[in-house]
Amino acid sequence: MGERTMKKNILCIGAGYVGGPTMAMIARQCPDRRVTVVDINEARIQAWNSDTLPIYEPGLNELVRACRGRNLFFSTDIARGIAEADIIFVSVNTPIKTFGHGAGYAADLQYWEKTARLILQHATSDKIVVEKSTLPVRTAAAMSRILRTGDSRVHFEVLSNPEFLAEGTAVADLTNPDRVLIGGADTTTGKAAVAELIALYSAWVPSDRILTTNVWSSELSKLAANAFLAQRVSSINALSALCEATEADVTEVARAVGMDSRIGPKFLKAGVGFGGSCFRKDLLSLVYLCESYGLQTVADYWKQVVCINDYQQTRFVATIVQAMFNTVAEKRIAVMGFAFKADTGDTRESPAIRISRLLAEEHACVVVNDPQALANARRDLTDLGDRITYEHDPYAAARNADAIVFLTDWQEYRQLDFRRIFQSMRQPSFVFDGRIFLDRQELFKIGFNVYSIGRPPLLQ
Ligand code: NAD
Ligand code: UGA
Repeated sequence: MGERTMKKNILCIGAGYVGGPTMAMIARQCPDRRVTVVDINEARIQAWNSDTLPIYEPGLNELVRACRGRNLFFSTDIARGIAEADIIFVSVNTPIKTFGHGAGYAADLQYWEKTARLILQHATSDKIVVEKSTLPVRTAAAMSRILRTGDSRVHFEVLSNPEFLAEGTAVADLTNPDRVLIGGADTTTGKAAVAELIALYSAWVPSDRILTTNVWSSELSKLAANAFLAQRVSSINALSALCEATEADVTEVARAVGMDSRIGPKFLKAGVGFGGSCFRKDLLSLVYLCESYGLQTVADYWKQVVCINDYQQTRFVATIVQAMFNTVAEKRIAVMGFAFKADTGDTRESPAIRISRLLAEEHACVVVNDPQALANARRDLTDLGDRITYEHDPYAAARNADAIVFLTDWQEYRQLDFRRIFQSMRQPSFVFDGRIFLDRQELFKIGFNVYSIGRPPLLQ
């Protein structure tokens, strides 16, 4: 189909974990739209145009292959992309500030602001600008102000349309979202822009799942949703500590609690804590926001969710050291799983980073295995040099080890031949299940000392 006959052109600035999959889904569901994804990172764009995509996500290869070169394009020509687009999604990264006021808490908005200025510089016709990145409340208003500083003949309408996909299930989440949230201004142009976005999503999302709010509610709802999810994880992890002290079993407690239909069973899996690029960042952004509005008690409340997450990781390492006769120095410890969750190669904020570092500080010889995340693990721990080794084969990682520590619940780990692993390890040998996903009775029968979070240990 020629460019001219297509409906409104779509551009996405930022070809990351959100921009790539989200735009591939729009291209797939709306074959009459031309969708272009641009990025300043040339290597990333090259990868999106190759057979090895820059991110691992089940079903993504097929999705991209189905529309790339047809109505989905990846490019570094940002200026042209902006000039030709009618709807511009902004999906750039919004990490935590590492400098100046709000360092360690506030969102670093420099990428986002640069993007706003780029749009302003290259736009020659009216644009709908859609905030897809997760941003603090009132950022869309700031973006509108920047965009209004230019040629007054070009109209920019800024909408908030936060993304709720989770990594590892991005394609499924995008195919069948719980809701699509669109925040827009209650003005004629605002309503028209919201209608455009509704029309886009209506190609595959049922209308009762498309929710419209004002811009600020939309921005805050995204931070709130992540805060609630993270809070559930910290709640069950806090209880896991009490379970270990009292010999209650956290999986039994979670089941009993989750069967209350008012509470529900999801996000009650205790473990080594939440990782991922967003929970920590968004919680801290919420904390900073509350503090800036003078709501210190509210800020302190949400800060505790992060504190419990950090505590869970140091507590897990303390358990390992204590179980192994109070020393892991020069002992080989195989870290199985480095990704922050299964089915992704992403290691951003992965609990495995902190846990491996703490083990290395105890002078353990840490060997890392992961089916998808070894390259990222190497980068994350590069400063530790030879103290850490990396092994593609889980059996080789476990050979001569004193302990194997599971930090990601990869499906392939469930299928390991644990008898073979046991025979290749030093004795006594230990399994630490940081994700409560292995059959501990089976492991115990083989001869392992088995520790899983929030449950009484099984000791030989
Ligand atoms: P990412 O780091 O994977 O991707 C962001 C991309 O933006 C990078 O490739 C970077 O090079 C590019 N970029 C930065 N500045 C640019 C500029 N001026 N012009 C062009 N490209 C630029 O980040 P991500 O994980 O995709 O997250 C993006 C946003 O979405 C964040 O705000 C995040 O909080 C939010 N979010 C992420 C997820 C997730 O699962 N990762 C889910 C929901 C929301
Ligand atoms: C999360 C949210 O689920 C998405 O809705 C949101 O869009 C996204 O953050 C974002 O804004 O970036 P994601 O971080 O990709 O998605 O993955 P989750 O499935 O939420 O898992 C986050 C972390 O919590 C993982 O480390 C996971 O292992 C951990 N977790 C999750 C638990 O420890 N227990 C649970 O019961 C659930």
